[in-house]
Amino acid sequence: MKVTIVGSGFVGQTTAMRLVERGTGQIVLTDIVEGLPQGLALDLKESAPVEGFEPSIVGTNDYADAAGSDVVVITAGFPRQPGMSRMDLLSKNAGIVRDVVEHIAPASPDAIVIVVTNPLDEMTFLAADVSGFPKERVMGMAGVLDSARLRYFIAEELGVHPASVEAMTLGSHGESMVALPRHATVDGKPLPELVDEATIERLFQRTRDGGAEIVALLKKGSAYYAPSASIARMVGAIAGDTHEVLPVSAWTTGQFGISDVYVGVPARLGRRGVEAIVELDLNGGELAALREAAEGIRAKCADLAKI
Ligand SMILES: NC(=O)c1ccc[n+]([C@@H]2O[C@H](COP(=O)([O-])OP(=O)(O)OC[C@H]3O[C@@H](n4cnc5c(N)ncnc54)[C@H](O)[C@@H]3O)[C@@H](O)[C@H]2O)c1
Repeated sequence: MKVTIVGSGFVGQTTAMRLVERGTGQIVLTDIVEGLPQGLALDLKESAPVEGFEPSIVGTNDYADAAGSDVVVITAGFPRQPGMSRMDLLSKNAGIVRDVVEHIAPASPDAIVIVVTNPLDEMTFLAADVSGFPKERVMGMAGVLDSARLRYFIAEELGVHPASVEAMTLGSHGESMVALPRHATVDGKPLPELVDEATIERLFQRTRDGGAEIVALLKKGSAYYAPSASIARMVGAIAGDTHEVLPVSAWTTGQFGISDVYVGVPARLGRRGVEAIVELDLNGGELAALREAAEGIRAKCADLAKI
């Protein structure tokens, strides 16, 4: 596997660390800032004798080094600052994502692209549009992160190990995130049997605001440990051809009554990218919320054409 990470900021560099430590394959870390990816790659390689991994990482400012990538992760772009919504980043990051994809796509025509730059669903649409790649080979990372946040908050509330909590969020990476209490379980028990409705709503609202809570605490930039873990999980599913179902921003073709828009849905991931969207059993309210999120993203994607 050759995995290129574009953007060596906090998300890009922590993703590189996770992937290289896991022995994912050849990792290429890039950025427009001269010396930054080279310095980070060297630092990571120097940790290899201590940590015991293969130092398969190259830091570069030259897109030629990314040629022939199997997976490209796009983290280039501005993060939020306190008080900003992800949507405030739309016009600034659209230019960056367009530029990155124009450089990456011709030299890695068979790559699977994972977009991370915010606003996530809209940047994923843009990357697919600019690359011209089949839509199943372009996807966005947000659902794994939002679900991880929700799982952690449930675990914290109930005092259990986070791994014993299963939960999934769908919809957009933002205000119209769709939480699915009926599908959340703790040690196999449905969440609604363990906590009352007000608690569920509080945990879901904290998840919706999870990114902003960290932005407010950091005061400069946004989260990266949980985002990089989520990206690494998606890369692992693709590289290992695991066919596991993860919530990702994927192109819809009629699933849940939604078509022709990127939105967070459960998707089976493997070496070909999104192999299928899995249609969970959603009730009327959940379906309506998912469709509303999709329409919100569709409207913002239309705005992209004016930028
Ligand atoms: N999808 C998610 O769930 C999620 C989670 C966290 C962060 N994000 C987003 O990821 C992006 C990166 O976050 P971060 O914390 O790493 O930011 P950061 O500021 O630490 O790093 C961004 C990096 O992108 C680089 N860059 C800018 N323009 C570039 C270009 N044209 N080509 C190559 N590199 C370029 C910058 O030099 C910088 O090093 C932000 O847009 C942030 O909002 C998304």
